[in-house]
Amino acid sequence: MAGSSPARQTAHMALDAGTTTFVTGAAGFIGMELVRVLSARGHQVFGLTGSVEGAERVRRAGGVPVQGDLLQSGKWQDEAPADWVFHLAPHPVCGPRLTRRHTESIARARVLMDSQLLEAVEGGATRRIIYLSDTSYYGPTGRRGITEDEPVTASAWGRCLTPALDRVDGYVLAGLPIVTAFTGWVYGTGSWFRDRVIKPVMGGRRVLQVGRPGPWVSPIHVHDCARALVHLAEHGAAGSRYFLVNRDPIRMHEFAETFARLADRPLRVLRVPAAATRLVLGPVLADYLQADAVFSNIRLRGLGFHFRYPTLEQGLQEVLGALDE
Ligand SMILES: NC(=O)c1ccc[n+]([C@@H]2O[C@H](COP(=O)([O-])OP(=O)(O)OC[C@H]3O[C@@H](n4cnc5c(N)ncnc54)[C@H](OP(=O)(O)O)[C@@H]3O)[C@@H](O)[C@H]2O)c1
Repeated sequence: MAGSSPARQTAHMALDAGTTTFVTGAAGFIGMELVRVLSARGHQVFGLTGSVEGAERVRRAGGVPVQGDLLQSGKWQDEAPADWVFHLAPHPVCGPRLTRRHTESIARARVLMDSQLLEAVEGGATRRIIYLSDTSYYGPTGRRGITEDEPVTASAWGRCLTPALDRVDGYVLAGLPIVTAFTGWVYGTGSWFRDRVIKPVMGGRRVLQVGRPGPWVSPIHVHDCARALVHLAEHGAAGSRYFLVNRDPIRMHEFAETFARLADRPLRVLRVPAAATRLVLGPVLADYLQADAVFSNIRLRGLGFHFRYPTLEQGLQEVLGALDE
């Protein structure tokens, strides 16, 4: 995690000491960074994980692991009604090639995961629930950044999220203090960015690029994503939606181009034609990966949030520094 000033950390710790937090997806890419940010502020963080390895990652990040499966009720639900709850609802895994039938079962699983968590929290003293979702819910946008109030035209991939998000509106009406966050492309030293960019570039292998060169997308560094989630717990309005993205969109191929340039490595690209992409990944993911998806962060900035890595270049310099360490 990139550090904040010692004075600011002390101020946050005084503010947050004694605040309990429950995080789902805590052993994942964004979840671990969130646990680090919260722990550094003095929170007692309970992190839900489904595996022994995940429990070790939560511990390393500074949290207390809680073993459990969001798809099933269990003892983990006793820890859920904390002061702040962060729901990093994970996509259930279903193999590399995604068909429309898969998306229906993902949609059902997400609804079940949400109900297991939100019904455990209902009626308690939780002050804020931050529900993390994916900007793909809004569908293709064109090149102009849309705001959270834009009508949703969900793509096939985005429709995995629609039934769950419709129900979130119902939970808000029932009085749960939910703030919904939609994040763009989150990059850092882990997850898709490690596998599809860092490893091939540093290993001298080719980076896969699908379809037409670079649709426009909205990125965010994982540390800023975690900080923004905490900012929403403090300042976000219950019942509101916020996009978590940098101000300036990039073309998708800039992730690898900028990383290779800053790392001073040659960039070798294997371009997969659109038709082949549909065959390998299925139509759902292929269409998603080739659509412009550009979002405005004006509402998040209106809450006083400041990015530590406002541009891709600044964020990738941090990534390279972390790799050196
Ligand atoms: N990364 C991105 O670029 C991105 C972009 C847009 C939106 N998002 C949203 O942010 C969420 C988190 O993303 P991420 O990249 O951090 O995901 P991730 O690295 O895949 O982590 C998800 C975590 O969820 C846990 N999990 C999975 N199924 C579970 C279950 N049934 N019960 C309990 N825990 C379960 C897994 O923990 P165990 O290891 O313990 O099994 C896993 O570590 C995503 O689901 C997505 O909606 C991410």
